[in-house]
Amino acid sequence: MARILRGLAYGLALTRSVYAVDMNMEYNQGLPDTGLDVSGWTAGELPDLDDMISLNDFQMAAKNFLSAKYYTQYRTGALDETTYINNLDIFRKILFNGYAFQDVSNLNLNTTILGYNFAAPFFIAPAANAGHANDGAETNLVKAAASAGVLYAPSISATQSIEEIGAAAADGQIMFHQEYLWANTTRVEDELARIEAAGFKAIFLTVDNTGIGGIRDRSLRFSSGSSDTGHTLDFTVDSLNRLRNMTSLPIVPKGIKTARDVKLCADLGFDAVYISNHGGRVVDGAPTAVEVLLDVHAQYPEVFDQIEIYADGGVRRGTHVLALLALGVRAVGLGRPPMFANVFGQEGVEAMLDILRTELVTEMQLLGQTDVEKWRGNTSFINTKRVELEYYGAPLSSFTQINY
Ligand SMILES: Cc1cc2nc3c(=O)[nH]c(=O)nc-3n(C[C@H](O)[C@H](O)[C@H](O)COP(=O)(O)O)c2cc1C
Repeated sequence: MARILRGLAYGLALTRSVYAVDMNMEYNQGLPDTGLDVSGWTAGELPDLDDMISLNDFQMAAKNFLSAKYYTQYRTGALDETTYINNLDIFRKILFNGYAFQDVSNLNLNTTILGYNFAAPFFIAPAANAGHANDGAETNLVKAAASAGVLYAPSISATQSIEEIGAAAADGQIMFHQEYLWANTTRVEDELARIEAAGFKAIFLTVDNTGIGGIRDRSLRFSSGSSDTGHTLDFTVDSLNRLRNMTSLPIVPKGIKTARDVKLCADLGFDAVYISNHGGRVVDGAPTAVEVLLDVHAQYPEVFDQIEIYADGGVRRGTHVLALLALGVRAVGLGRPPMFANVFGQEGVEAMLDILRTELVTEMQLLGQTDVEKWRGNTSFINTKRVELEYYGAPLSSFTQINY
């Protein structure tokens, strides 16, 4: 009995406790040193929204404000978090070729995703439990996405219901919805029908954690330890094809981690595929989106004409968006940044999206090309040889054409 009470007290203390931000620790965990000074912050309180200069600053604000448990649930990664760190680190290895003597007076960020028009080539990716950051939960993300003109695809493990989230949409706002492969097929059928009825226009079908979720030490310290997700263990291409017949909405497999699976989805006739290692939360050691895309270029270059490709993982800067676009991605997902920014509510998420947009526009101007269409698939803007050297043992020879 005494042990149980001690356990309960410990659990409650962990739920309530708050981290004091220590920037040196963050630099070790992949964040860049951009001079954020947290010495005046009081643990448990929100800093001033006006002090948020970059997407990484929102992470620190969330760490300072949220309970240690909730912050950890957002921040956590699988096992040693190698993939989590690599997601952040990979972009530091990519160099940009910027061109002088270019007219950068006209800007075009307009991006179609599955034929729907959006104002930017980035979107809010599905992430569970937005309500841990703010009572406005997913509704804040819907509204912020509407005001920024970007896509939002809520998680099926959201705080709010499918219907509540759908009802928060502005007139004409297009949203997709994420779904998991529940072992209970009736549940899948029921949720797909509800998603369609609530007005969502496509499904991100997450295929990277069949059966179990990743083992995440950081969050296991706050929970019971079970990683049983209720997802099916025997999801094959046949199951995938059966699932496609359960809805009239387009399905986009999310959590694709190899060039082989990108090609498979293209050959199966999907309209789009979503390369993701789930923010380093599932397989520790899974490659980053950049590396998978290099493999697609090397092995199946034809798929870029066959299918739309989305990607995410560690995107925190306008330059990260540009690197993925140049590698052929149509649109880039943001997982943690919107969740962290949501500690400030809708206004915080809007500010975060605006910062990313400003960075994107600025970098495009400085690099001499302000039309997003000219970036997409144009590898002459980037130098990925440092990544290739590490990943393949030698640079690929195909990325030498100059065509800007
Ligand atoms: C707190 C959290 C919850 C997530 N929940 C889901 C989910 O329910 N379904 C899903 O497909 N992906 C989920 N993801 C993965 C994201 O969709 C996305 O792939 C990943 O976060 C991108 O990496 P980033 O956080 O570095 O941007 C989650 C990610 C986080 C951080």
